[in-house]
Amino acid sequence: MTAPIIRSLPELRELTRAWHRAGEMIGVVPTMGALHQGHLSLARIARAECDRVITTIFVNPKQFNNPDDLKNYPRTEHEDARKLAPIGVDVIYVPDGDTMYPGGFATNVSVEGLTDCLCGAHRPGHFDGVATVVSKLFLQTSADKAYFGNKDYQQLQVVRRMACDLDIPVEVIGCPTIREEDGLAMSSRNLLLSDRARIFAPHLNEVMEAIATAFAEGKAMSDLSGPAIAKLEQAGFTEVEYLELRAADGLGLLDTPSEHARLFAAAWLAGVRLIDNIDIPAR
Ligand code: PAF
Repeated sequence: MTAPIIRSLPELRELTRAWHRAGEMIGVVPTMGALHQGHLSLARIARAECDRVITTIFVNPKQFNNPDDLKNYPRTEHEDARKLAPIGVDVIYVPDGDTMYPGGFATNVSVEGLTDCLCGAHRPGHFDGVATVVSKLFLQTSADKAYFGNKDYQQLQVVRRMACDLDIPVEVIGCPTIREEDGLAMSSRNLLLSDRARIFAPHLNEVMEAIATAFAEGKAMSDLSGPAIAKLEQAGFTEVEYLELRAADGLGLLDTPSEHARLFAAAWLAGVRLIDNIDIPAR
């Protein structure tokens, strides 16, 4: 059976108050829909750890800096509900634009520092949109735990900082990136890849794994990034926005993994922007 879809905030609040009164722990999995195995893995982890699970679906206009990207974003609510059914989430919360941003809405949640680099530098306003909507979703659902994929590692850091700074009593939990068999990180945007582009898309992860191996041999990012970008361009990627090694904690730029790090990449393939990041242990 598919979980009930709730669209009204008062209705959601009535339910979550009753759950908390009964001493139940609430987990939330915020999404923009077009659910894939990555989202479903978050819902499964939440299901295993919490008494009640809410999946939210809201395509947040404030985090899109490109109107075409917002227009083309896949919207598949019924299919999403069907995919969540076997996991047994309690509720799917699907607020509309007026519930999230009613007339007169004038507040912006902005996290400084962490958002200056990577996607923050290439998508102006994106993380303000994410931090604003996620803070609202935390407050609306009054969740005790919230589940996010490591695939959007910078987002995870931004959301954690925001919840801590605003004293929102929610534990923000990062979960493993789920990949296709050929290494491509799962993403709703993969649906937008043509059949031909889909064949070349896994090169992004392949090139990143090769860099990770080279670190283990003592090489530095300054030697590795030029040849890696050339390889991606040969594979049909038209623009590599960034390919950078950064500290796992704080996202400071590194040349070698002198501390626990992550390797981050964003690149365009046939009109689709793909991002990925992998864990790099300190050496
Ligand atoms: O990762 C996403 O899908 C979105 O950025 C999120 C966290 C649901 C906020 O709109």
